[in-house]
Amino acid sequence: MKGILLAGGKGTRLYPMTQVASKQLQPIYDKPMVYYPLTTMMVAGLREILIISSPEDLPRFEQLLGDGSRWGVSLAYQEQAAPRGIAEALVLAETFLDGHKSMLMLGDNFIYGRLDFLREEVEQLKEGATVFGYRVADPSAYGVVEVDADFQVVSLEEKPKKPKSPWAVPGMYLYDEHAPAYAKALAPSARGELEITDLNRVYLENGQLRARPMGRGIAWLDTGTPENLLEASSFVHALQSRQGLIIGSPEEVAYRRGYLSHDAFAQLVQQLPRSVYRDYLEHVRDEGSVVAT
Ligand code: TTP
Repeated sequence: MKGILLAGGKGTRLYPMTQVASKQLQPIYDKPMVYYPLTTMMVAGLREILIISSPEDLPRFEQLLGDGSRWGVSLAYQEQAAPRGIAEALVLAETFLDGHKSMLMLGDNFIYGRLDFLREEVEQLKEGATVFGYRVADPSAYGVVEVDADFQVVSLEEKPKKPKSPWAVPGMYLYDEHAPAYAKALAPSARGELEITDLNRVYLENGQLRARPMGRGIAWLDTGTPENLLEASSFVHALQSRQGLIIGSPEEVAYRRGYLSHDAFAQLVQQLPRSVYRDYLEHVRDEGSVVAT
């Protein structure tokens, strides 16, 4: 399975911050936002990832993340000329995917908690698509999945005024190799976008859409407004300062997942500027165990 990290869009709700740097480059506490979804994908076991962003922002992502080799992964880059919808990512990624299955992750997706559920779904997906369901107090701002008592999908709705369930669908989707073809056949919606809910509905109509609940032990936070950003930053700060473990470090994930040897990790840490971030990674290096329980 290959990964697609979609990090374009306008970020209008974060104006004026997003005038010269996109939403996904803004900090959540001490790291650029995109580090969090990127590390979620790395933890899920993905090693080949395509980053899609606007023509203005793509070079900045490339400058920030590079080709991924220092983190033991491979990162490729592709422009989205205009924000024509989340499902367009599958069309743009067709050549990169080259017949592989995919995980599509939005670049502003903050997910924290034990990710076994995600690794399981990545390993299990043979055909069809998988979406996740996360219980929220007000689902009306999201795609919403209605499920039966066995968590089988009954319906999908985009931003419904009267949601049929409390299960919002986070911006993290797993697809079989047919997704680019299905996405190409979609018609744009009234707002002129290729809607990800429409793509998921194709799988639902084929009887091939699975939904998996993300338990209450997982935090899925919004990052789209200034208040959301502050809340997400506070969340990261609270956990990090309590545990002495940091969230969303690609260097640490690469090391603990075995994408980098101890020596390669030590060398990488040596190259970082003096900072709290480096101090932490030096501590990880010297701890002598790759397991953070
Ligand atoms: P949104 O939050 O819907 O849009 P936005 O990021 O442009 O923000 P705003 O509503 O404040 O203008 O987008 C969700 C994610 O998907 C975000 O990471 C941007 C990304 N995206 C694209 O990269 N391309 C697109 O065509 C769309 C619609 C979204």
